[in-house]
Amino acid sequence: MTAPAHATGHGLPLDFARLLIDWQRRHGRSGLPWQHTHDPYRVWLSEVMLQQTQVSTVLQYYPRFLERFPDVQCLAAATPDEVMALWSGLGYYSRARNLHRCAQVVVQEHGGVFPDTAQQLQTLPGIGASTAAAIAAFCHGERVSIADGNVRRVLARLLAFEGDLARLASQRELWELAQALLPDQPAHADMTAYTQGLMDLGATLCTRSRPQCERCPVEGLCRARATGTTDRFPVKTRTLKRRHESWWLLMMLHRDAGGVLRLWLQRRPAPGIWAGLYCPPVFDSEASLQASLPAALVDRIQLQDAVTHSLTHRELRLHPCVLTCDELIAPAAQDGAPLQGQWVEASALGEHGLPAPVRLMLASLTARTRD
Ligand code: ADE
Repeated sequence: MTAPAHATGHGLPLDFARLLIDWQRRHGRSGLPWQHTHDPYRVWLSEVMLQQTQVSTVLQYYPRFLERFPDVQCLAAATPDEVMALWSGLGYYSRARNLHRCAQVVVQEHGGVFPDTAQQLQTLPGIGASTAAAIAAFCHGERVSIADGNVRRVLARLLAFEGDLARLASQRELWELAQALLPDQPAHADMTAYTQGLMDLGATLCTRSRPQCERCPVEGLCRARATGTTDRFPVKTRTLKRRHESWWLLMMLHRDAGGVLRLWLQRRPAPGIWAGLYCPPVFDSEASLQASLPAALVDRIQLQDAVTHSLTHRELRLHPCVLTCDELIAPAAQDGAPLQGQWVEASALGEHGLPAPVRLMLASLTARTRD
């Protein structure tokens, strides 16, 4: 049998696609709730949730979200608050805003039907090249390669790809090679197994540290393995630098005569971290937090242990400052005007979108103040 021109031309490993598909069918993941469907709505939702979140976490959110929003029309008709409340805790909240916008665009501009091709899917809010490829491959068997971080690592090792993946040009070059590695004339089921196989390999065996090469179906083809250099790939020069910030959270509590506990929350402004979510007011120093309150209340603030919360580009040191109030007052801005916000009943927190670390802090606080 003669090799396809693209494979010999680039010296690409010929058997890669076949070995990967066989391995996925035998050993890959097969029971995830977004597999075994060709419904673009379900696949799209899973891929957006999985963009920056582990499978184990998504498994807790995906069924609940689908139950509330079983199709794209339901999601498009929801309020932003409803969507945020169901996303609360998954993080990277721009995904939820884009998800909602995308549903509205699909309904308003595409008659409620997702476009078929990866190229068209990429024009929708929140759908990048790799997510578009996953949807098109899983739902329509399109011959197009995904290229998320895990897959880039697998391919960079397989090919001992020396390009610097911090550069867009190198990402593009690796994607071209990924296209050339795709199975020739695949059936729909082959593209599904191949795409899932790439994901599974990156998530389970070809991990960032300590890859399990001895169990890998393409060990014999892998150039990094052959030269003992898996830890050199992928090459990426720019390393992420996180900015450190301290945030002071004013957590005001009030319990009325009937025993109802309330917390004072603000909706976070857009753009910015946690935009659209509910949160106690945030200050950049303890002094500015104190300045938002009448002097008589400052001594009653109880400073709790700080919590560290890492985002992609920032590391937040969160300092909870708890104030039990006798009256339903509002804190003030620097000019003395009351801050925008509201008292929310603790029992209604589940209906509000809250950042995950804030939800945890409030949960332990309300548990402690019970009785
Ligand atoms: N990560 C991204 N997409 C995925 C999928 N479909 N299954 C498992 N992990 C994934």
